[in-house]
Amino acid sequence: MMARGRIVGTGSTTPRRILTNKELESIVDTSDEWITRRTGIKERRISSNGRGENTSDMATTASLKALQMAGISPETLDMIVVGTVTPDRQFPSAACFVQKALDAGKAMAFDVSAGCSGFLYALSIANNAIGTGNCKNALVIGAERLSGITNWEDRNTCVLLGDGAGAVVLTPSTEPDGILSTHLRSDGNLWDLLYSFDERSKIPDFLDTIETKPFFLKMEGNRLFKKAVSCLAKIAVRALEYHGLSCDSVKLMVPHQANLRIIRAVAERLDIPMDRVYTNIEKYGNTSSATIPIALDEANREGLLKPDDYVLLVTFGAGLTWGASVVRWSP
Ligand code: UT7
Repeated sequence: MMARGRIVGTGSTTPRRILTNKELESIVDTSDEWITRRTGIKERRISSNGRGENTSDMATTASLKALQMAGISPETLDMIVVGTVTPDRQFPSAACFVQKALDAGKAMAFDVSAGCSGFLYALSIANNAIGTGNCKNALVIGAERLSGITNWEDRNTCVLLGDGAGAVVLTPSTEPDGILSTHLRSDGNLWDLLYSFDERSKIPDFLDTIETKPFFLKMEGNRLFKKAVSCLAKIAVRALEYHGLSCDSVKLMVPHQANLRIIRAVAERLDIPMDRVYTNIEKYGNTSSATIPIALDEANREGLLKPDDYVLLVTFGAGLTWGASVVRWSP
């Protein structure tokens, strides 16, 4: 029987600095009332380089917690893969910095860029590598420092975003558990609903502007919202049907945390009551690739995941990209 990845450890971290909705009222023309009502977000975490909270630092901290829970030492890792759109540098990858910090000399390390879906894409790659036997122990991370690409004058986006990281450790299982499947989709035709405004795209004509212009994120929230609800609901059903499962069998849905209204609308379409949906968007906002592994870790540490529970992970983000993964939780 082909092996699949079983999640044997989870970990997460968020920066210490809390930025509340109230504080944002003095930065842009917004209100706690608007942000809470339209998004469900109350506060988010903002990282600081000086405090060692760059993307790879947070990824490393989350990984250490996951490795500790798994009882696995870094030198036995065969693969480190980080889903991120905000690596410390364009290259080398954040994963290589994590490898260095962990002293995981045997592993291959690389990043995956798939917008907010980066973690699920990374999970799928690692799971498939375990399935082929090419890899035994894998560390899969979602880590972002969105505050670095946030336009703090744009109220449409700056109130939504935050920083953080989450990680899972995978080991091979030949039991009917672990990551049963991951269904992934993308649609590049809709790239311009959410993208980084990046002066590098103008090289070499405007070399002189590169240093002075920041990169920041642009978003057409309204169109994205509708697309997110329909893509998430459809891919969730497809992923469950693939295993002959109904929405009733889902013990916990752990969705990407972009907007509480999106999460509620998807749960409603799937007929999954909100007490079987994990949300923490009120504390962290949208941390892109990091939302699912942070939520999964919190749910795990809160004791919400029991052996043989079906857990549904669903994601949606820039690209556009989206996907769903069905996990049968293991002891
Ligand atoms: O993670 C990857 C994918 N991301 C998403 O899927 C995000 C999807 N989109 C959303 O979550 C929502 O569309 C937003 C939260 C971004 C916006 O909520 P909305 O209910 O769709 O609001 P809207 O864009 O339709 O704007 C409604 C009004 C506008 O004012 P007018 O034109 O009606 O006068 C905006 O200018 O709300 C205004 N507005 C704000 N007001 C106060 C927009 N942002 C703010 C703000 N504070 N921060």
